[in-house]
Amino acid sequence: MAQRLTVIGTGYLGATHAACMADLGFEVLGVDVDVEKIARLTRGDLPFYEPGLEPILRRNLENGRLRFTTSYEEAAEFGDVHFICVGTPQKPGEYAADMRYVDDTVDSLAPLLTRACVVVGKSTVPVGTAERLARRLTERSPAGDVVELAWNPEFLREGYAVEDTLHPDRLVVGVQSDRAEKVLREVYASMVADGVPFIVSDFPTAELVKVSANAFLATKISFINAMAEVCEAAHADVTKLSEALSYDDRIGGKFLGPGLGFGGGCLPKDIRAFMARAGELGVDQALSFLREVDAINIRRRIRMVDLARELLGGSFIGRTVGVLGAAFKPNSDDIRDSPALDVATSIRAQGGQVTVYDPQALENARRAHPDLTYGSSAMDAVDGAHVVLLLTEWKEFRELDPEVLGGAVAERNIVDGRNALDPERWRTAGWQYRALGRP
Ligand code: UDX
Repeated sequence: MAQRLTVIGTGYLGATHAACMADLGFEVLGVDVDVEKIARLTRGDLPFYEPGLEPILRRNLENGRLRFTTSYEEAAEFGDVHFICVGTPQKPGEYAADMRYVDDTVDSLAPLLTRACVVVGKSTVPVGTAERLARRLTERSPAGDVVELAWNPEFLREGYAVEDTLHPDRLVVGVQSDRAEKVLREVYASMVADGVPFIVSDFPTAELVKVSANAFLATKISFINAMAEVCEAAHADVTKLSEALSYDDRIGGKFLGPGLGFGGGCLPKDIRAFMARAGELGVDQALSFLREVDAINIRRRIRMVDLARELLGGSFIGRTVGVLGAAFKPNSDDIRDSPALDVATSIRAQGGQVTVYDPQALENARRAHPDLTYGSSAMDAVDGAHVVLLLTEWKEFRELDPEVLGGAVAERNIVDGRNALDPERWRTAGWQYRALGRP
């Protein structure tokens, strides 16, 4: 295990990859242009919430296998393999991904590469990017064509990032040479020995595996949420429907959870960037269904607001709304494209007095939405509420006692945006219980 790895970009993906690779025994240097982030990581202080990651970070800082820097010179000098883990956010006002950070990384690193190494892209990118970057790397590196590119998409989920990094479902590697493949086989040898499938392909296939996986997952969620719309109209119960569908092996129960739909830093922007790229390739029709997937997802948020307003007799004015959840999903403090905050700000805009509580995402929510009011606990957020909205299904919200909560609110109205509660239990405690997709 001679290789020394750098991980460029220390967000959710990069910080997790750096710490986990160090834990596997590699010497790892994490690189970021954000001085503050690097200072925090160097102190063993994770800049975001991710269960189980901080002990791994600290352990490997202490044993000396993991370090952090802001210097590309140091990175180029150090690494045999350089992982690119920078973000590809949605461009403001467009569907396409903003490739600036990926391009900047290559432009900063390439002129400093004076010996053979492999640069490995992990960021989610439009198909065709790897081909373009490979040319750019060779042209700009003093070492020329002994600097090789590989594409190795990452499938980790926030909240399960450590597990997904150390025990992935599969490893996908896009390469143009046997040498790059060999180097990555060595990097992932322990996982391959554990039986993780190692799929080698060309560049565009590797890039497409990632975006098509996310497109499929988003489609599955919007499918069940479309069924929820039909269920509401037909007085059927989408949770029973979903359960019954899940026993069909060909369908499966994962990502068939009906509710407020998907958010986060990946699924929404990835399906939009995928549509934009398909348009550029002249095959936009092939992905026109993703427009519907996106539209169904957005409609759930509108429906949630409508249901809450209905329960209040048609208006939010002068009414107090207790919102449980701000993160885009449980076990995360990420609020990017959070359905919960979208609903909360929409109700606030319609005149409701909204108080939000989340176990981990409050700080991020406060920074992004200073106009909302925040509670210090679930009980605090629902104090005096005319309606309670469960928007992120944290375990502590699932376990709330309807009697205890009932003591704090002004009126016992609840909308379960994640189908996370037992309706009978809440109704028995005198609550008017409503949910998305249920009678
Ligand atoms: C996703 C992909 O799962 C991961 O493979 C990829 O690398 C990045 O994008 P992540 O964004 O961390 O990961 O979250 P994920 O667990 O996939 O959930 C996405 C969204 O879908 C969340 O908002 C979640 O609440 C929602 N969801 C998920 C549902 O609404 N219903 C479900 O049944 C499952």
